[in-house]
Amino acid sequence: MAAVEDHHFWYRGLRDVLLRTLARRGLPEHPRVLDAGCGTGANLRALEEAFAPSYLGGFDLSEEALEHARAKAPSAELYRADIRSPRLPERDLDLVVSLDVVYIAGADACFEGLARLVHALAPSGLFVLEVPAYEWLRSPHDVAVGGTERFTARQVSRLLERLGLRVELSTYRLCALLPLVVLRRLPGMLAPPVEARSELHSPPGPLLDAALWRAIAAENRLIERGVAMPWGSSVFAIGRRI
Ligand SMILES: C[S@@+](CC[C@H](N)C(=O)[O-])C[C@H]1O[C@@H](n2cnc3c(N)ncnc32)[C@H](O)[C@@H]1O
Repeated sequence: MAAVEDHHFWYRGLRDVLLRTLARRGLPEHPRVLDAGCGTGANLRALEEAFAPSYLGGFDLSEEALEHARAKAPSAELYRADIRSPRLPERDLDLVVSLDVVYIAGADACFEGLARLVHALAPSGLFVLEVPAYEWLRSPHDVAVGGTERFTARQVSRLLERLGLRVELSTYRLCALLPLVVLRRLPGMLAPPVEARSELHSPPGPLLDAALWRAIAAENRLIERGVAMPWGSSVFAIGRRI
C-alpha cells in the first residue's frame, strides 16, 4: 500500500472523492481531523494539504503502517490503536474518516468503537465511512487483506443512523468499473486459489491506470454534486453529528 498509494488509480480516486465531497460541506477553518485506520498515510497527507487542520491525528493497528504514515504526514499525531476500542486523546473533532477499515473486523465488532469516535465529534462534525460493497463480490483479495464483511449502501446508511448521525451522502463508488472488477475477480470467486494474494501485487499498467483514473474522476464529479451511484464495488458515506 505504501508503495502504490500515491499513484494507483484506486487510491487517487478515493482521495479525490473524499476531498471533493468534504469541500462541498464547509468544514470550519483549520478543522480538527482524525483518520481512524490511517494505513500508510497518503490520506492524512491529502487532508493536511487540503484543509490545513489545527489538529491532525491518526491511528492504526499496524505499527508497520504507522511507520510509513509518520514519514508521509510528519506533523500528524500518530499512534497505535484498535478501531474496536480506540484511544481518543482529542475531543471536539470536526472530521473523522475511516476508509476501508471497518470491513476487516466487521460492523458489529466495530460498533462500540465507532460510537466512541462519533462521541468525539463536535456538534455538526462529519464522519466519513468507506467500505467494500456486496458480499457476493468477496474474493481472494478479501482473504489476503483479512476482510470479513462487505456492505450494501443501505446497510451503511443504517449503521450511520444507529450511530446517531444524519446521513448526508451514501453512495456506491466505482460504478463504471464494476463489470471489470467482477470479470477480474470471477476466477477467484468461483475457485479460490490455495494462496490468497492482494490485488495490489498486480497493479494495472500506466495506460490502463490513466484510463481508470479518468473514469473515476468523472464519477467523483457526479458524487460531489450529490448524485448517488446505483451500484459499484465500494460504498462511500458521510454522516453529520446532529
Ligand atoms: C485497506 S487499509 C486502508 C488504509 C487507509 N484508511 C486508506 O484508505 O488507505 C486497512 C487499514 O486498516 C488497519 N486496520 C485493520 N484492522 C484495524 C483495527 N481493528 N483497528 C485499526 N486499524 C485497523 C490496517 O492495519 C490497514 O492499515
